[in-house]
Amino acid sequence: MKIFVTGACGYKGSVLVPKLLRAGHEVVAFDAMWFGNFLDPHPDLTVVKGDVRNTDEIDLSGVDSIIHLSSVANDPCGDLDPKLTWEISCLATMQLADRARRHGIKRFIYASSGSVYGVKEEAQVTEDLELLPISEYNKTKMCGERIVLSYKDDMVVQIVRPATVCGYSPRQRLDVSVNMLTMQALMNGRITVFGGDQTRPNIHIDDITDLYLFLLEHPEHTGIYNAGFENISILDIAKMVTKYVPAEVVVTPSSDPRSYRVNSDRLLSTGFQPKKTVEDAIKELIGMYSQGRLSNEDRWYNLKWMEKEVVA
Ligand SMILES: NC(=O)c1ccc[n+]([C@@H]2O[C@H](COP(=O)([O-])OP(=O)(O)OC[C@H]3O[C@@H](n4cnc5c(N)ncnc54)[C@H](O)[C@@H]3O)[C@@H](O)[C@H]2O)c1
Repeated sequence: MKIFVTGACGYKGSVLVPKLLRAGHEVVAFDAMWFGNFLDPHPDLTVVKGDVRNTDEIDLSGVDSIIHLSSVANDPCGDLDPKLTWEISCLATMQLADRARRHGIKRFIYASSGSVYGVKEEAQVTEDLELLPISEYNKTKMCGERIVLSYKDDMVVQIVRPATVCGYSPRQRLDVSVNMLTMQALMNGRITVFGGDQTRPNIHIDDITDLYLFLLEHPEHTGIYNAGFENISILDIAKMVTKYVPAEVVVTPSSDPRSYRVNSDRLLSTGFQPKKTVEDAIKELIGMYSQGRLSNEDRWYNLKWMEKEVVA
């Protein structure tokens, strides 16, 4: 299959693209490269530096499937420049889906977010609950989903609502909870936890990227899927880190009220099974750090980097 991946140079894309190539697919990796490009050259890989908002930069000839990952990818970044956020994460999603339909592309996989639910009282957050997104980021994802779903009669539409992703990627993110807490312990011997009681779902980067491959292989599974397998409090993640890296845990007040447990039974009913855990991610990050393959860089923090390089 020829697969067009937007946001391909991002945290998830940098793990996903090599897997797609190993599976024998041809890949067009399309990305604005805000954080750089960490994809190794490969005969079946074409890397295009471009902006999804500029539709004339997007060449979909011969493409069978789109995996749409590009977006302004967290709450504080979404608030930096709401117009930019809506243009990239929502308007460009509409234009890409529309182009895909015009090109007769039959498969569209969309990376939404588990954060579209907002704050939920329900013990189990399932796909059919009402969406009450809080931030600009969450709202663009909700609208992006609706846009992509409106093309479901033209193509196979598969939407994933991932939990917070954890683990190592050549394009690292240290602003996501497990990675951030692990890095704090490694660098400072001290972990600062905001609030601590908020329960959040997690997914290992190998599992979320395997899921995109699984969906490519299973066009019969259409619609929306939660993808989060370990609902753990931030404090418990910090304690898990201290099993492997001695560190003091300091709890401070938090202004972020989001606390939820995601239920991924719909996804599990397709036969997809996660293979890794939060604990695996922590151990792998520690391994990379001790080998000198993971270091603390500004560009691994989306907000810091976007303030400096993207919306400065
Ligand atoms: N990482 C997570 O925990 C998580 C959880 C849920 C959902 N998601 C979603 O998964 C997707 C990928 O997340 P990630 O963690 O890899 O994020 P990331 O920030 O590492 O990657 C996003 C990529 O999109 C690119 N991009 C941004 N604007 C662009 C534009 N206008 N044109 C072309 N490329 C552009 C950036 O350069 C970057 O490489 C995002 O849509 C994100 O919202 C991520």
